[in-house]
Amino acid sequence: MTVIGVLGGAGTVGRVAVDRLAGYGLGELRIGGRDIDRVTAVCRATPGAAVPVRVDLRDPDELRAFCTGCRVVVNCAGPSYQVLDTVARAALAAGADYVDAGGDLTAVEALESAAPPELAERAAVFSAGVMPGLSGLLPRLLAAGPLARLDGYVGGAARISELSAVDVLLTRGPRFGTALAAWRDGRLAPGALAPLHDVTLPGFAGRVHAWPFLSAEFARLATELDVAEARNYTVYVTDAIPRALAEAWADDGPIERHVAAVVAAAEADLAATGPYYTLLFQAVPAAMPAPGQSKAPRRLILRTPDSYALSGVVAAIATREVLDGRVEPGARSAAECLDAAAVFARLSGDPLVTQAEIR
Ligand SMILES: NC(=O)c1ccc[n+]([C@@H]2O[C@H](COP(=O)([O-])OP(=O)(O)OC[C@H]3O[C@@H](n4cnc5c(N)ncnc54)[C@H](OP(=O)(O)O)[C@@H]3O)[C@@H](O)[C@H]2O)c1
Repeated sequence: MTVIGVLGGAGTVGRVAVDRLAGYGLGELRIGGRDIDRVTAVCRATPGAAVPVRVDLRDPDELRAFCTGCRVVVNCAGPSYQVLDTVARAALAAGADYVDAGGDLTAVEALESAAPPELAERAAVFSAGVMPGLSGLLPRLLAAGPLARLDGYVGGAARISELSAVDVLLTRGPRFGTALAAWRDGRLAPGALAPLHDVTLPGFAGRVHAWPFLSAEFARLATELDVAEARNYTVYVTDAIPRALAEAWADDGPIERHVAAVVAAAEADLAATGPYYTLLFQAVPAAMPAPGQSKAPRRLILRTPDSYALSGVVAAIATREVLDGRVEPGARSAAECLDAAAVFARLSGDPLVTQAEIR
């Protein structure tokens, strides 16, 4: 019997990952978290076999016991920039593959810095979520040929859990990205862009604010695709979150004291527009198509009412890809090892996706 362990399976992301994995019918689910009552409630609500397990990922023995016997471990617990490669190492040591809804490049680097031997035969997929995740994967569908320009706009209004707020506050510094920078001619161009205030953008509701943030993920994508210029924006429906982050980052004290302000700022955004989240990518090819050659798509829009829930869908899709043997061994981000067309097709049929358009 294939056993799929979902750590943090009672959380916002984890619950949806559990639901989709149960729907795919890939095997028995083992659902873990510290609060056994919450985990048990999720198991009861899950069709098919689901076993609750009390586990604190900070306890090596409990984590080892959770991973033992799993074919794949899906981590939806965090904060992922503190967890880094902790769960991945335990999963690999138990002979399991690994999928993480978060983690980013810092976690990939942490795992690779002293790579366990099992990584030669097992896959460890990080950033299997929306951003990072789809934000680095879906633009590839616009890169049929060389691109002169690639623009990304990702954001909207979503409720943020306290745990995820810690991760949002930790995404600071060049390892995560550079504010106001663009990517030009193979290198980072600092201060090249200004925030766009009160603009309308395809796929976004009403007027929004787009803050230039060249994420490490988008810079890697631009390098890989050899894009002449890349611009990446995080989109907010009000300026409440940028203000909360600016205040937090101006303070040298512990970030924990700013968690409540980030959660409240996200609530303020939700009150302004209701929940929605959009990924918009636009591309300009380096050359016009030759006569008789079909025009490559230039715009992709994906919309969902809930970006956190959609991250659970992405984690489940990544797990399915791993179990189907379509992911090579090694540690990589989802954007770099999943098939963009296959993921887009699966997302298009998911009830949490309200618009999936490429043209
Ligand atoms: N890539 C993306 O786009 C993306 C999007 C959204 C979220 N994420 C990441 O996904 C993670 C989960 O986010 P979320 O919003 O779903 O958080 P959440 O709602 O707070 O859920 C976190 C879950 O993890 C469990 N957990 C927390 N600490 C644990 C520990 N020490 N040991 C075992 N289980 C633990 C919690 O249950 P107990 O408290 O009962 O243990 C809970 O079920 C975060 O790291 C976040 O950054 C990524």
